[in-house]
Amino acid sequence: MTHPDLAVYAARRARLMAELGSDAVAVLATAPERLRNRDSHYPYRFDSHFYYLTGFAEPEAVLVLHGASGRSILFCRERDPEREIWDGLRYGPQAAREAFGFDEAWPIGELDQRLPDWLSGQAALHCVLGEDAAWDRRVLDWLQALRALARNGVQAPRGMFDLRRVLDAMRLIKDEHEIAIMQRSADIAAAAHCRAMRATRPGMNEYQIEAELLYEFRRQGAQAPAYTSIVAGGAHACVLHYVENNGWLADGELLLVDAGCELDGYASDITRTFPVNGRFTGAARDVYACVLAAQAAALEQVRPGNSWQAPHEAAVRVLAQGMLDWRLLQGSLDGVVESGAYKRFYMHRTGHWLGLDVHDVGEYKQGGEWRPLQPGMVLTVEPGCYIRAAEDIPQAFCNIGVRIEDDVLVDVDGHRVLTSAVPSAMAGIEALMAQAGEEREHA
Ligand code: GLY
Ligand code: MN
Ligand code: MN
Repeated sequence: MTHPDLAVYAARRARLMAELGSDAVAVLATAPERLRNRDSHYPYRFDSHFYYLTGFAEPEAVLVLHGASGRSILFCRERDPEREIWDGLRYGPQAAREAFGFDEAWPIGELDQRLPDWLSGQAALHCVLGEDAAWDRRVLDWLQALRALARNGVQAPRGMFDLRRVLDAMRLIKDEHEIAIMQRSADIAAAAHCRAMRATRPGMNEYQIEAELLYEFRRQGAQAPAYTSIVAGGAHACVLHYVENNGWLADGELLLVDAGCELDGYASDITRTFPVNGRFTGAARDVYACVLAAQAAALEQVRPGNSWQAPHEAAVRVLAQGMLDWRLLQGSLDGVVESGAYKRFYMHRTGHWLGLDVHDVGEYKQGGEWRPLQPGMVLTVEPGCYIRAAEDIPQAFCNIGVRIEDDVLVDVDGHRVLTSAVPSAMAGIEALMAQAGEEREHA
């Protein structure tokens, strides 16, 4: 049976080969399996670049793209009836070749024997070095073995290049196939956030809210969380990478939830911050309104031709004005922006590329300048404000941490927010939580 998306992956391989040229050969391994403890493995996750070019999700696989012949060759695990009883089905070279549209496929155990033939006579070798010492050693051994055959007329590649340079650039602009999966990944994450909001009330634990997120991810078919979910009540929200998720949620506090799922390799990445008791009040209301306004200002800047930096600069100005209004900072708006004084309360950037990796590949600068946004790019827009308790901070503002994060596709008309199915306006969040409360009462 052929893989339903076979043509998508074959077209990407053809595009990459056209970029690299007919005198190039590319060699790319998928990720290794990793032990978690003793003989138990972490859940397997393929290498993103490898998957982008193949759709092939098994471990122990290597892709070779041979410029001169235009052939794409897969090395993968052989069928093994004994192992399959324990670990499940493997394609094996023959079925993998047919299903995924490779020109050839061979057992992974034959890689060292067969690869030198594919390298021989190609001027440029494109591969990924520096991520796995054993792989690096192997690549160098293949080259050395070829050089040893020079007197037989064998030519080893003379140039070695980082395959990531071209692949990163390809992956930065998402195709229709990717956008459709990312929208679905975003929809599932949005549903999970709605579920978390509806479940939250004083006296619950952060881990119970995390469980709601994970339940919805899996219930809707996402394979995993895209990263460890952050479920941070009260002061925990001021720890940017808080992942303990074991605190009790108190009346009057905010809860910051940063969670996204991975669907067919693609990440979503959403943050919402909402009151544990369902009502925004006092300083929390002011800070929330400011972060939401900062996000709106940033989103306004997401359109083709605008610099990557424009959304960040717009968000910073709104946030810094808030900090001045609340007397957390002194001076002029231009002054605190210029000096970076705002970074005490907003220390991260306003977003990142999103795709197969949650912090996806792709350069942010080109020729020393922030790059312009282009249709097909997907980025997060995630301003925040984190006010740690300190002697010079008014009591009402202490330990308030707010972030609002959405996933955004740049399109020809401007942008499309992929994650708008979960409310971020205060009224929308309050209505959702109130409705859930009423449903509980009448249950
Ligand atoms: N969840 C990781 C991030 O927001 O960048
Ligand atoms: Mn993010
Ligand atoms: Mn996030």
